[in-house]
Formats: sequence, C-alpha cells, structure tokens
Amino acid sequence: MKKIRLGVNIDHVATVRNARGEKYPSPLKAALLAEKYGANSVTIHLREDRRHIREEDLRSIKSRLKIPLNLEIAATKEMLKIALKHKPPFICIVPEKRKEITTEGGLNLNFNKLFLKKIIYKLKKNKSRVSLFIEPNEKDIRKAKLLNVDCIEIHTGKFCNLVNDNKNFKNELDKIKKSVALANKIGLEVHAGHGLTYASAKILSKTIGIKEFNIGHFLIGESIFVGLASCIKQFKRIIK
Ligand code: PXP
Repeated sequence: MKKIRLGVNIDHVATVRNARGEKYPSPLKAALLAEKYGANSVTIHLREDRRHIREEDLRSIKSRLKIPLNLEIAATKEMLKIALKHKPPFICIVPEKRKEITTEGGLNLNFNKLFLKKIIYKLKKNKSRVSLFIEPNEKDIRKAKLLNVDCIEIHTGKFCNLVNDNKNFKNELDKIKKSVALANKIGLEVHAGHGLTYASAKILSKTIGIKEFNIGHFLIGESIFVGLASCIKQFKRIIK
C-alpha cells in the first residue's frame, strides 16, 4: 500500500517569530529543514490578518523549496491575486474568521458558490492543484466535486478533540471513513488535517484512501522537545 504523504505546516514558527517582532525563528529555515527531514510538502496559511505567515515568507519559501508548497488561503479577491502571482503547486481554500484562534471548521459551500467556482477555475488554469477544506459529510463532498476541485481536505478537528479527551470517537471516525470512501469513489483525492497528534494520526492512518496528512500545531510544539527531525520521522513512521 502506498504511504500517506506528510505535509508539515510551519505557521507556528512564524507565530513565535512574530511574538517578539524579530527575524527568528525563520519559517524559511523551518521549511527547508522539514524538506531535509522527509516532509513531502510544506504548508503555510497566509491569513488576511497576517498573524503568522507573511507574503515575504511565501515568496522566500516558494523560491527555495524543492518539495511542493501548499498555500492555504481564504476565498477572497486579495488572496486570489496573491496565489495567482506566486503560483504555488498546491492550494487549499479554507474558511477564515478574524477572531478565531484557528480554522474552526470546514468551508460553507452554500456561501459564495459562484465566486468559489471562479477562484477554483482560475487557480487550476494557473496550474495549481486545488483542494477544499471541508467537514466530513456527503453533501459537502458532492458539492466539492461539482466545484471541480482536484482534492478535498477533511477537517479532523472534532475527531482529534475526542481522541485527546479520551472520549468515544467511533461515530466521528465512521463519518470520516464514509466521507473518504465516497470522495474516492467520485474521483476526489482525500487529505486530512487539523489537530492531529501522534495518537490521532495513528488511528486515522488506518483509514484506507487518505493520501495526505497536513500537520502543524502539535508537530511544531513537539519539536521544541524532540527536534524537528525526530518529530517528522516519528510522524512518518506512524502514518506509513
Ligand atoms: N489543514 C488545514 C486546511 C488547516 O487550515 C490547518 C491549520 O488550521 C491544518 C491542516 C493543520 O492543523 P494543526 O495546526 O492543528 O495541525
């Protein structure tokens, strides 16, 4: 069976940098080290409020990274313009609220459908692989297919919270499994992300049909204790 790819999200290297307004720790350095230690792609989320990653990070990482860069953006005119300009190989469209601490759920695919369709068309024409970050449910998967994306990324936040709290996660895991099966059946590549730790990644890696995990907060936090190399290697062992 093919290994699940590991996308390393380095937003929180930028969070630490910005906390002191210094130039370090450098997201570019983190991206290049993640590549060296076996990441299959590097993810950055350029938020509208620039709370972590900035456009200069996008520029420098895109120009030096040899593995694919996965840019997460909200569906806005500003982000579309930036994505078209920098042309990252992978793009994931995510919902964004100014006051949220993190991306709290999947996209609302009933909202602004025409604009979403236009963005997806333009990004694909510009040769980026386009993914939509959605909740694990049938309706959204079918809507994503109609929007003509290449892949979907399933928001695993609820499942991961249940695992972290030692609660029964069976229903949530079943929802994810059903969603993965349906998406694969209708020709969508499936990724998963949000809140993943060693424990939740291990459980989810047994779900057949998921091609890519995108992991950030836990991975960067754990790297403080064990180093980026060890942490990436441990995740790769777990999800293989
Ligand atoms: N995937 C997507 C689409 C995200 O927006 C994020 C960050 O919110 C992640 C994965 C990574 O989540 P985390 O930092 O919780 O691992």
